[in-house]
Amino acid sequence: MNVVILAAGMGKRMQSALPKVLHPLAGKPLLQHVIDTARELSPRKLCVIYGHGGAAVPQMVEQQNNGQFAAIDTALQEPQLGTGHAVMQALPQLDESQPTLILYGDVPLTTADSLRRLVQAAGSDKLGILTVEQANPFGLGRMVRENGKIVRIVEEKDASDEERKIREINSGIMVAPTARLKAWLSTLSNNNAQGEYYLTDIVAKAVAENMEVVSAHPSAEWEVAGVNSKVQLAELERRHQLNLANKLLEQGVTLMDPARIDIRGSLTCGRDVTIDVGCVFEGNVQLADGVKVGAHSVLVDASIGAGVQIKPFCHIEGAEVGAQSQIGPYARLRPGAQLAQDVHIGNFVEVKNSIIAASSKANHLAYIGDSTVGARVNIGAGTITCNYDGVNKHRTVIEDDCFIGSDSQLVAPVTVGAGATLGAGTTLTKNAPAGKLTISRAKQITIDSWQRPVKIKK
Ligand code: UD1
Ligand code: CA
Repeated sequence: MNVVILAAGMGKRMQSALPKVLHPLAGKPLLQHVIDTARELSPRKLCVIYGHGGAAVPQMVEQQNNGQFAAIDTALQEPQLGTGHAVMQALPQLDESQPTLILYGDVPLTTADSLRRLVQAAGSDKLGILTVEQANPFGLGRMVRENGKIVRIVEEKDASDEERKIREINSGIMVAPTARLKAWLSTLSNNNAQGEYYLTDIVAKAVAENMEVVSAHPSAEWEVAGVNSKVQLAELERRHQLNLANKLLEQGVTLMDPARIDIRGSLTCGRDVTIDVGCVFEGNVQLADGVKVGAHSVLVDASIGAGVQIKPFCHIEGAEVGAQSQIGPYARLRPGAQLAQDVHIGNFVEVKNSIIAASSKANHLAYIGDSTVGARVNIGAGTITCNYDGVNKHRTVIEDDCFIGSDSQLVAPVTVGAGATLGAGTTLTKNAPAGKLTISRAKQITIDSWQRPVKIKK
């Protein structure tokens, strides 16, 4: 099969400098959704027609050509003279022995299942159109049928009052035998209300040649909904998020409110996972069995072990959290944070590029960066690893069973030996020996003769 994706329209109503098809839905450009769905059908040829937005669209497509799939071609449509004219730009790249499926770059949520049904219905010798009955068909092309058979499509602006009452609309998604498609397109005229070369005119041409025109239908209207404005983009985003949430519910995940979750990537959940409201998941996130994610947490490219509790308001990115650990509230795990099992990271603790072994705790107000922390270590409130000298980063090593007193600064590179204790307020600039108390603190004195000043009366 050949797939042509039309993406040359300018999307004026988006009110944006970004080409319409590059606006993200669920964190991914609209066009990317369409490309990903097309690839599920393993097309022999895939061609994106672009126009507005300069090099941005072909650049985005080029990034897809990573060798994993057959390369995507692009073709420039300039000027944009209509949907039929758009498809013409792809013709030189299509394989005539295979049918051609036409998709729209601004219709992101069509399922591969619906497309497969359409392609199957059309076979290799029929014209197939994805259509749907719509309560409000205003603005869309109407399917004109005679004796139940499709005979042509009429655009809103060209339709009679009678035709405007038709509720069955053209989604725009079609599949056609490629050799015939070429012949029909070469005879299109722009003699219509909009002065455009309408792709939809091929339907009457097929009927004139006695070719059968068949239709298939999506499971729901949103599958063929296009994005022309930010309002429509926001509506489709919510629809898509609800679909994703419903899938999670069906898998047994507990969502405190399926209308208040955002997944912008892939979220994999084990059994008995609970997610509270307002959480955002980006990139690739894995939650193992029994994980609880507290309200308003953001997880990006993270792997969370079994039984972990993430309390509200955490930001976790590029991190691994071992089983049974407790994170937050208000914790920040940055890229390279690797926590073993049963680690506790409490409020206002930041961990970056650090390995923390089992059962260690940093419960309040700490910064652990570029560090290797052993098992059963207790890091007191206000502890800071001073990993950056203004030019280079250095490592801090805290061995097993250490106790780091509150408000300590560990000036890296520095090592705290196994079982060592640092007294509160220590500024550690040299290694602390294992098993001993190390403390750096100005000696405490009391001044017996001191008196508190009294207010002088004026
Ligand atoms: C088209 C159909 C209409 C259908 C509707 C569904 C035609 C003549 N009409 O309407 O029957 O109900 O889609 O949304 O085909 N595009 C280009 N180059 C162009 C013009 C459009 O690439 O010169 C692309 C747009 O970027 C968009 C798609 O084609 O992705 C549809 O264009 P749009 O103008 O939104 O559709 P209509 O012509 O209004
Ligand atoms: Ca449109």
